[in-house]
Amino acid sequence: MTRTPARTASRRHYLLCPPTHFAVRYAINPWMDPARRVDRAVAMTQWSGLSRTLRDLGHTVHTMEPLADLPDMVFAANGATVVDGDVLIARFRHHQRAPEARAHLRWFTGAGYHPVRRAGLPNEGEGDFLQAGGRILAGTGFRTSAAAHREAQQVLGRPVVTLTLSDPRFYHLDTALAVLTEDQIMYYPGAFAPASRQLLRTLFPDAIQATEADAAAFGLNAVSDGRHVVLPAAARALAVRLAARGFEPVPVELSELHKAGGGPKCCVLELRPGR
Ligand code: ARG
Repeated sequence: MTRTPARTASRRHYLLCPPTHFAVRYAINPWMDPARRVDRAVAMTQWSGLSRTLRDLGHTVHTMEPLADLPDMVFAANGATVVDGDVLIARFRHHQRAPEARAHLRWFTGAGYHPVRRAGLPNEGEGDFLQAGGRILAGTGFRTSAAAHREAQQVLGRPVVTLTLSDPRFYHLDTALAVLTEDQIMYYPGAFAPASRQLLRTLFPDAIQATEADAAAFGLNAVSDGRHVVLPAAARALAVRLAARGFEPVPVELSELHKAGGGPKCCVLELRPGR
């Protein structure tokens, strides 16, 4: 019989952006349908619930100023990647989101981060770059380019593991995979090209696997502090699997943001301070 390990939470610093101007006005992923009604007030209530949940868990939440005409800015995770206090600002694939990079550049510079570098190649921050222990798991196929993985490796000085996404519903790595602890992940194998699926099996033989239904509910778009895993309430089977492995699932409702193809993790950029 395998013993369930005791899970320890560590205090985190997160950057969020309120959905003040949230809307679905264009479609850059298969979840977005501009003809469908979006209720911004509901989005704000749900987002505030997420922010409160993170603070109640003992984490520090920083917020950035939302800008009009950038309806996807609530998905703060896409704006940058922070490794030991070094910041790599994103370069968005689609012109509709491109100006968000400048807002992140301003925020990080204003907050005293150094160095803050701008990416030369398309990379969507923590949407596609997830840190697991000393390495960066990096998604490609839809948004971040494989060449941008090499750029990130050079700039951030961490080995980057390239993973190819193959299902357009899971267009960012953080919709298909979540890092739970330095050496434990959960993911949906069906979102990855065969070679990447094989690589994940080799690197994380003990990983939690999600069903297609849980992945479609954005269950993998989760925020873990090592013990608590904040995930969409609809991902019920995944919550049971997490609990069986000693994690504490913390369900949140973000159905309004799901209409834009986002979930809890998309809203949360982790600020990893330098030493
Ligand atoms: N509508 C946004 C886009 O397509 C959603 C981004 C979700 N963010 C994420 N980290 N997966 O870019």
